[in-house]
Amino acid sequence: MKKKAFITGINGQDGSYLSEYLLEKDYKVYGIVRRNSIAEHQESRIDHLIGNGVETEYGDLLDVSSLERMIRTIQPDEIYNIAAQSHVRISMDIPQFTVQTNALGLLNILEAYKNNCPTARFYQASSSEMFGRTVDEDGYQRETTKMSPTSPYGCTKVFGYNMVQHYRNAYDLFAANGILFNHESPRRGSNFVTNKVVKAAVRIKNGLQDKLSLGNMDAYRDWGHSKDYVRAMHMIINHTEPDDFVCATGVTNSVRDMCSYVFEKLDLDYKNYVIKDPRFMRPEDLKYLRGDSTKLRTTFGWKPEYTFETLMDEMIDHWVNIYK
Ligand code: GDD
Repeated sequence: MKKKAFITGINGQDGSYLSEYLLEKDYKVYGIVRRNSIAEHQESRIDHLIGNGVETEYGDLLDVSSLERMIRTIQPDEIYNIAAQSHVRISMDIPQFTVQTNALGLLNILEAYKNNCPTARFYQASSSEMFGRTVDEDGYQRETTKMSPTSPYGCTKVFGYNMVQHYRNAYDLFAANGILFNHESPRRGSNFVTNKVVKAAVRIKNGLQDKLSLGNMDAYRDWGHSKDYVRAMHMIINHTEPDDFVCATGVTNSVRDMCSYVFEKLDLDYKNYVIKDPRFMRPEDLKYLRGDSTKLRTTFGWKPEYTFETLMDEMIDHWVNIYK
């Protein structure tokens, strides 16, 4: 019989790549999708999968009855909680909504899991944003690094991380955390910095835009490809025991480095186009991320197939094809 996976956030970047990956492994995939007033935006990343092994229903992490009903009737083997209000800057504008969705929402699905399908396995999308200000002496963050979040989003992810460990220990559930560093792709929302920069650079090259407004260009991030990271999610949920793993490339670049690389690829000098805009500054920004994923690499043999450069090149090609 086919294995069944249930994914919250199925129509996001990670949900769509994870669905494709699980279909290749012969899973039946189910997911919940929030109602959106623009129907075309609702499932655009997974349109090609609907009816081809993926089924979706309307639902929401805050709508307990639909969560309970779906988990009870589907009886999934694996539950991936990837849904969230995932934008760090926006979490400062709408902190209460962010806390409800990411923290209370996680608790809702954990309860639905414990009460209706406790033999399933559970994956929680934890985040490097949980580490916040802390960097170990050698310049990395890892599973043992102290958590000091710098945003409402980061605080909700610390809550979720701890709750998952509590449910694992208290109720003997297979509940695991993947602590994922930034991961991008052509499917990334274009208000995250990578896709914002790449899209704007290609538009500038094509004469469709003059300037690119950015916030803090001196923040460092460890950027990987979402496709590599959904492979890690599947490994983590299929481990012999529930545990927590950092997933990262180990390479860090600043927003400025990224702009320089992307504009140069298009024969442009970013300094002529990028302007600093206080609207995109954060009241408190996380300055530096670089992950040590030794535990993931040694346990499963995971390693990323993409480098920072091949990731950016794929994103550039994507936008060049759209605007050609
Ligand atoms: N979004 C955005 N827009 N970020 C900007 C801009 C801008 O115009 N200008 C500079 N930045 C800087 C931000 O201040 C931040 O330091 C960095 O670019 C990355 O911002 P994002 O791409 O928005 O990602 P993030 O690091 O805040 O959060 C992402 O990664 C986390 C993992 O560490 C999100 O995907 C989170 O959901 C995820 O958990």
